[in-house]
Amino acid sequence: MISQLDTKIIGRKIYHFDTIDSTNLFAKILIKKGTEEGTVVVADIQSSGRGRKDRTWSSPKGGLWFSIVLYPIISPKSGMIATMAASVAVAKGIEEITGIKPVIKWPNDLLINGKKVCGIFTELDARKDIINNVVVGIGVNVNNKIDEELNKIAMSLVDEVGTEISIDELLRSILINLDETYNKLIHNDYDSIRESWHSYSNIIGKKIQVQDDDIITTGKVTDVDEDGCLILDTENGSVKIVSGDLTYL
Ligand code: BTN
Repeated sequence: MISQLDTKIIGRKIYHFDTIDSTNLFAKILIKKGTEEGTVVVADIQSSGRGRKDRTWSSPKGGLWFSIVLYPIISPKSGMIATMAASVAVAKGIEEITGIKPVIKWPNDLLINGKKVCGIFTELDARKDIINNVVVGIGVNVNNKIDEELNKIAMSLVDEVGTEISIDELLRSILINLDETYNKLIHNDYDSIRESWHSYSNIIGKKIQVQDDDIITTGKVTDVDEDGCLILDTENGSVKIVSGDLTYL
């Protein structure tokens, strides 16, 4: 359990569980009770960890599984900037604690040596043109063993570092970094968040394929726009990609 943080918004209230179904689900229960912005829910084990696109997220002991409650006053179409801020904070935290610089893979995965070390699942509750709340769920493989069937595509920090990493120190570092990036977000300094995001990403100029349900788009990335969407140069011209799974070609 980490000690009280001297942050402005993030992690001033932290709920810790040995085991819970999903920290995202518990965060939503706390929102109904009016919990303060920046509340963090962290668990040693999740019995029903959830990922993007209804996927399950394996969450055994040894990993860092947590969610953060945010109430940003931004339009829903800018919601992606919250995920970008979180990706940057996790990348900085990992770099500070391990010395290894991860790569951000659009939209929200962190990779080391081409393998996924962190996934981010942002759940946004919005009315027409205003966000009610955002739950940013973050899963980092730290000291946990990766399931056999995922070995080719996922890794744990311990695999690269060679010795166990302090989960508390990593969480502390991520939350302090997120406090900084989130303050930029609420002051509309999106440019600075995007700049940091690009310093961990290598996507511009890459030829990629994005699959969103049945729709597959192939092209070269020319930009990530102010809403965090990918701009692809395809054979049918410029196409804006809002979500999907990306493969480098
Ligand atoms: C992905 O699909 O890549 C995102 C995975 C996000 C997993 C985290 S673990 C903490 C939080 N609680 C959940 O149930 N999911 C997120």
